Amino acid sequence: APGGSGLLAAFPPLKNDTALRAAKGLPVSHTPVWAMRQAGRYLPEFRSVRSLSQFFEVCRSPSLASEVTLQPLRRFALDAAIIFSDILVIPQALGVDVVMTPGIGPQIPNRVATPADVETIVKFVGEDYTKCAQSLSYVWEAVALTRMRMNGHCPLFGFCGAPWTIMAYMVQGGGSRNWDHAKAFVLNHPEAAHQLLHVITEVSIEYLVGKVHAGAQILQVFDSNAGELPPHQLKEFSLPYLARIAEGVKARLAADGVEAVPLVVFARGAMHSLDLVAKLGYDVLGIDWTIDLKSARAKAGPGCVLQGNLDPCTLFAPPEVIRQEVRRMLADNGDGSLIANLGHGMLPNHSPEHLGVFIEEIHAVSRAAKST
Ligand code: CP3
Repeated sequence: APGGSGLLAAFPPLKNDTALRAAKGLPVSHTPVWAMRQAGRYLPEFRSVRSLSQFFEVCRSPSLASEVTLQPLRRFALDAAIIFSDILVIPQALGVDVVMTPGIGPQIPNRVATPADVETIVKFVGEDYTKCAQSLSYVWEAVALTRMRMNGHCPLFGFCGAPWTIMAYMVQGGGSRNWDHAKAFVLNHPEAAHQLLHVITEVSIEYLVGKVHAGAQILQVFDSNAGELPPHQLKEFSLPYLARIAEGVKARLAADGVEAVPLVVFARGAMHSLDLVAKLGYDVLGIDWTIDLKSARAKAGPGCVLQGNLDPCTLFAPPEVIRQEVRRMLADNGDGSLIANLGHGMLPNHSPEHLGVFIEEIHAVSRAAKST
């Protein structure tokens, strides 16, 4: 098994399991909270690490990746950490270069433009998906080192990008306003698109399983581009692969004799299809800010566990407004299981103090509600 499951027993016991309990729908003493991109440029201590190293150098260095993962935990009473890395390490494992250009974002110099380019990737990967994922073993090392350094403080998330989102970056060649190349590709070359999605899916399963072997206690799949596709195309080009990841990860962990971990799916911009996303085999549904939690629960069905969903821009408001919006969010949620989060990631111009207000208010309001 990648990573070696012998490690798992050696990690310090978990002191705060609130996020894992909420993910399983169990009673909790307070609503657990973390923030997507909580390790990022809004933190001066993150910028100082980044001033010395390139983005993917930080990802490839277990000691730097674990340092920036721990930074937000030192400031805030967070109930979860997420390993510092990027969803775009998967294209790198498939033999496709990705560079992070300051001020622009991720760029893929040789984008996937034709079915022949997909063929090249399929040949590069071959039959052995485990071996392919092994090129990302530096992430597994970062996970193991971070688990050690966290000393049981709270659970550690592992993550990957959803196949459609990864494919969209590979075909588009970087971020985009309208994803024209990526969307044209699925229309013009549906068969090649499915081949590429299949390879990304199988390597992602191995990658996630390796993270659990290395110590990840919960996994999140980011379908950040889900909202770019119309619902019927989401059903064809994204949802089946998300379902396969959930099924594949669970089956592989069971076969390896490792305890299952909760799985979170975040299909950003696809709240219109939450009823379908709720049936993909995940334990927790990530909710963006385009829907209120009450409506999300109605759509997802009874007993579902949600994660979200404060509009990140709310953190630009004064503290009193942030507190008011937190109370609104928790009131909308009612008494269903929730992992509080933002509806998308932290932005570079956010203030750390305002994130602190969000976290403290989630804890204060939910503790008060649960003690009455
Ligand atoms: O704290 C955490 O959440 C863990 C680390 C994390 C990063 N990226 C670090 C990062 C996670 C979970 C991601 C996921 C990711 N990466 C997603 C899915 C989540 C989402 O935001 O929708 C996506 C789409 C990417 C691709 C990506 N990586 C983009 C579009 C960018 C550029 C952002 C920008 O504004 O420049 C990145 C770079 C990136 N990944 C940064 C961080 C902290 C900032 C860049 C830097 O440090 O130079």
